[in-house]
Amino acid sequence: MFTKKTVRDIDVRGKRVLLRADYNVSMDERGNITDDYRIQQSLPTVKYLLEQDARLIICSHLGRPKGKVVPSLSLAPVAKRLQELLGKHVEFVPDCVGEQVTKAANTLQPGHVLLLENVRFYPEEEANDEAFAKQLASLADVFVQDAFGVVHHGAVSVSELPKYMPAVAGPLLEKEVDTITSAMENPTRPLMAVVGGAKIADKLDVLHRFIEIADFIAIGGGMANTFLLAEGMHIGASLADKDDLPVAKEILAKAREKAKDGKFVFYLPQDGVVASKIDKAAPTRIADWSAHVIADIENYPKRPPHEASYIREHEMILDIGPFSAAFIAGAMQFAGTVVWNGTMGITEKAGLQGPVGPYAHGTDLLMEAMTGKFGHRPFSLVGGGDTVTYIEERGLADAFNHVSTGGGASLELMAGHKLPGVEALQNK
Ligand code: 3PG
Repeated sequence: MFTKKTVRDIDVRGKRVLLRADYNVSMDERGNITDDYRIQQSLPTVKYLLEQDARLIICSHLGRPKGKVVPSLSLAPVAKRLQELLGKHVEFVPDCVGEQVTKAANTLQPGHVLLLENVRFYPEEEANDEAFAKQLASLADVFVQDAFGVVHHGAVSVSELPKYMPAVAGPLLEKEVDTITSAMENPTRPLMAVVGGAKIADKLDVLHRFIEIADFIAIGGGMANTFLLAEGMHIGASLADKDDLPVAKEILAKAREKAKDGKFVFYLPQDGVVASKIDKAAPTRIADWSAHVIADIENYPKRPPHEASYIREHEMILDIGPFSAAFIAGAMQFAGTVVWNGTMGITEKAGLQGPVGPYAHGTDLLMEAMTGKFGHRPFSLVGGGDTVTYIEERGLADAFNHVSTGGGASLELMAGHKLPGVEALQNK
């Protein structure tokens, strides 16, 4: 249960409200927004505050300008998109503090919206600068934190502003924290975790937590290669992180220990789609190394891997193979909850064919299984980041129960860590 005050617990009528949103959206080289999921997700909060006749001032970051004004990271295109989605004028000021901003904030009428320029154009934002915090705080009477994507790290618009003004949570932040926490603490079982992406180190704490609480963990993506390497398999030119080998071994040992009771599965891919180039025209084959992986299981006859299981020196594993995908999809038919973070193979479109490249089939099959295509529909929760970008590109966000707007923040929360931006808000 969310223990912090939200906008519904206070009276914002006619007040100047400073809303911290996460409008860190993807854009192409020409400044067109390519994925407006985060803007869409902020709409209920924005609409609620406007219905309350608040004088709404919104601030956000975009990208990592490192304290400098970077024109391509201006929030001006976001103001335009927000205006289209809201069907209401959105005023934009090309700064986030200073005379012009103060004047715009003071003359803003009830029920009207003002979007400020990227807070990260000031180095003070990430330096937790007190004077900058006071300047921002002077713009409004109340602070509403709704930027789930940033609450895991300190910054003026995250953990400092609540020191200078009454601070409560927005509905999106509340929904994110409640949904993710209850899926981790009180899931409908069996609980299945599907974890992909490049680096084990980025997801280390989450992997440890899943070994403690999940019934089934399926691994894919680049990190699967590192686990396979840690198991002594030859993975050719596949992406793998040698620095992660010690932690990979540690996780495998912990998973094996837990699996002894026969009620827990830690599943590494047993086959993969391999090619010697990431290119739509590259010859592709399926390599099956199941003999290698299962040879490790106690009581299973140990035998050397068949030649087809070898990945040649120049080959890369670019997706999980059809058997592994079908096996994980099959296991999903028994799951009560699926928590998914990280794609199973290469899902970026660049240079590949059409909306789905040749190395996205594993991910696609799992998405179909998770969203009920094969009959059973578990509760599905998707952690943010690249996984969400892919789901959005495929137009499938509505098919899941919850698609998080946070990348690092959702991982931190899943790992059971406290979020400074939430801690700083008023208690109920
Ligand atoms: C995100 O994209 O995860 C959030 O907007 C946070 O961005 P950051 O990692 O640059 O802080």
